[in-house]
Amino acid sequence: MSVKRIDHIAIVVSNLDEATTLYRDVLGLPVAHTEHIAEQEVIVACLPAGDSEIELLQPVNETSGVARYLAKNGPGIHHICLEVEDIEQSLTDLKAAGMQLINEQPTTGAGGKRVAFVHPKSAHGVLIELYEAAR
Ligand code: CO
Repeated sequence: MSVKRIDHIAIVVSNLDEATTLYRDVLGLPVAHTEHIAEQEVIVACLPAGDSEIELLQPVNETSGVARYLAKNGPGIHHICLEVEDIEQSLTDLKAAGMQLINEQPTTGAGGKRVAFVHPKSAHGVLIELYEAAR
């Protein structure tokens, strides 16, 4: 597996307006855009930081995966997304190394973005998202 860079770090928050204000006005990160991602049942604010982004996620209901995470753990880092050269090869390599995968195959999101998640049990408690840019 070959990692190009950290694409984003996702942070779950209970109040996106307050969190965005803190990251923008106190920490000085620009807010590139905010959007509702229907399939993940979240609103997300993307704040570029150099070659990476911080994504602030707020669940829009009480039943989504992110909402359950927030209820159980409180606000905090939810996952780290690594951009890889070849997502299929990365999944094959991780599986061969005994890692537990949440997605055995990449799922395709907006803009042809292909992602897959590695279970935190296999990664010292950190949910890892792999991402390959659209070719
Ligand atoms: Co992500």
